[in-house]
Amino acid sequence: MVSTGAGVSSESGVPTFRGADGLWNKFRPEELATFEAFERNPRIVWEWYQYRREIINRIKPNAGHYSIAQMPGYFESFTLVTQNVDGLHRAAGSDDLVELHGNIKRNRCIECGGFNYDEEFAQFPPLCACGGRLRPDVVWFGELLPKGAFEKAEMATTGCDLFFSVGTSGIVQPAASLPFTARRVGAFIVEINIEQTELTHIADEHFTVKSGEILPAILGKIKELRGN
Ligand code: APR
Repeated sequence: MVSTGAGVSSESGVPTFRGADGLWNKFRPEELATFEAFERNPRIVWEWYQYRREIINRIKPNAGHYSIAQMPGYFESFTLVTQNVDGLHRAAGSDDLVELHGNIKRNRCIECGGFNYDEEFAQFPPLCACGGRLRPDVVWFGELLPKGAFEKAEMATTGCDLFFSVGTSGIVQPAASLPFTARRVGAFIVEINIEQTELTHIADEHFTVKSGEILPAILGKIKELRGN
């Protein structure tokens, strides 16, 4: 089981949220990442997501994403769960993953629930064919996760015996509860983070290394152990 956060994408150029250059040091989440903020000022919210989309459209996955994408081939069962909305795991070839916080490249209608992948809009907020307002299909603070996403992540966690926590500060719930569930079921927990986090005290191994640097080495070790 691998659970990733913004740190796994930072070597690709995606800003994290709470690190030194974190987005939440520059922008106020309550003004940009809540439904109330969208109701209050949909243009400012959309401009911010368009700005993040432009960054994400220019970047590529890094060695960390590619290593994780190869891992399923070496385990009887494997689950990738991410809090990231950047789509880089998919771009690296991970097609079976749980996107707990949605996907920034998708738009969802708040009336009919329909979605599309349009990037250019004639107006803000853009409108769905049904006339409803479109919003970025990401989970905002105070909102529920996509239907069944967390249940799937939790189910996989209760059945895992090796749990990697990669590039997350372990602050945001319910994703932050997964390593504790893994701990409860006796899984071996490996944390990869350039600094100590809320999770470090329950990890069996903590690697204070960039994920893009250590994940290829870990994959190499796994291949070796599997006789490849
Ligand atoms: N390799 C490993 N870890 C890294 C790297 C790297 N190259 N770069 C940064 N990190 C670590 C930071 O030390 C930090 O602990 O990644 C973590 C990123 O933490 P956050 O910025 O808090 O991101 P995340 O945990 O994914 O945030 C969770 O919060 O804002 C919401 O919805 C948003 O999904 C996000 C959620």
